[in-house]
Amino acid sequence: MLDSNLFPYCDGTLCCEGVSLEKLAEEYGTPLFVTSRNSLVNRYRSFERAFSELDHFTCYSVKANFNLHVIRALAAEGCGCDVNSGGELYRALQAGVEPGKIIMAGVGKTAVDIEYAISSEILMLKAESLSELRMIDEIASRLGVKASVGIRINPNVTAETHPYITTGDSKEKFGIDEVDLDEMFALVKTLEHVDLACLDMHIGSQVFDADFYHAALEKLLDVLTAARSAGFGIRYFDIGGGFPVTYEPQKPATPIEHFADKLVPLLEKTDTTILFEPGRFITANSAVLLTRVLYRKRNHAGKEFVIVDAGMTELIRPALYQSYHEIVAVRQHDSVMVADIVGPVCESGDFFARERTVDRVEEGELLAILSAGAYASVMSSNYNGRLRPAEVMVDGDEARLIRKRDTFEQLIQNEMF
Ligand SMILES: Cc1ncc(COP(=O)(O)O)c(C=O)c1O
Repeated sequence: MLDSNLFPYCDGTLCCEGVSLEKLAEEYGTPLFVTSRNSLVNRYRSFERAFSELDHFTCYSVKANFNLHVIRALAAEGCGCDVNSGGELYRALQAGVEPGKIIMAGVGKTAVDIEYAISSEILMLKAESLSELRMIDEIASRLGVKASVGIRINPNVTAETHPYITTGDSKEKFGIDEVDLDEMFALVKTLEHVDLACLDMHIGSQVFDADFYHAALEKLLDVLTAARSAGFGIRYFDIGGGFPVTYEPQKPATPIEHFADKLVPLLEKTDTTILFEPGRFITANSAVLLTRVLYRKRNHAGKEFVIVDAGMTELIRPALYQSYHEIVAVRQHDSVMVADIVGPVCESGDFFARERTVDRVEEGELLAILSAGAYASVMSSNYNGRLRPAEVMVDGDEARLIRKRDTFEQLIQNEMF
């Protein structure tokens, strides 16, 4: 599979590590997310190797895949967590991550999120506006502590990626604008319960070109100089996530070593601990979405539709970002057809592939939608009364259920009779 050799065909059947996906579908039903634990670990280790010469700490960005077992597999390697809300913080803590290894981002943290983060004694919160800094100070003062804070800077660099996942551009809502920095420094000086410990950026996701990071980092280095001359003891420098993965074999991701070669010389100059927040890089190619073909039909124009039991409710990326996912038959085929692979949801946008050359699968057969480990199950919903799917994690020859499929009862459990 892409970026991973842990989804091989064994005797003509696609496997996850040593377990047949056909067997998993029989045991747990479909749609089913199947995650390779060793792929997660290998990806994390390859990231760590690439940046090994730097004083750094990696905080896995939980938003990519927040299953407790995914977080736990990475925490067991020593990895920390980047969370975006009280809910994600709760997950990280429930997974057993030490509070001192958790950082919290988010452009719209509520007072409840902030209080939860400070009272949990996490490593730091990243603020994205002057008003949020005041709010953090007020809450920290009430709790009688000094909160460790990073400032997310908007470096005004437009990373070339999908417009919905570019975040370091001044048109976007993220971070504090360069022109507000003097005002921000002046404000922080007056806040007795804020310790400005970190400068932060995150320029987008699936960023293939290291030059965008380089350009943003150069700006952040200027801010670092300004912050230090203003008397702030900056100890951390957080360059976010966004490192790319391969979704299409024809468009291989830039190797992580290339980012390291390009960025380490700049990062070394900071005399800080560098924080990284990779999400997709670790999880995207560590899981597949298994789905069964319900029906095939052909329209008057000869167009072929393959209707499967997974939909945009399980994997919204094609509908939301026009993303490409490789789709392969679980039983190896030697003939192909051109078809649309579509889901059961009442939306024309509910498709996984259009006019795609795919294996000539029959009704009842299984397909695997690849690269389904990031921004997939986390974005699943109950729209159309759909049950969010089960998830399984494979480790070698063993598979375990890590999330039960929703039930009909759960669909209405929070509603008042
Ligand atoms: C602040 C922040 N950090 C890290 C990430 C993770 O990005 P990726 O999954 O592309 O590595 C995101 C994604 O949106 C983010 O917003």
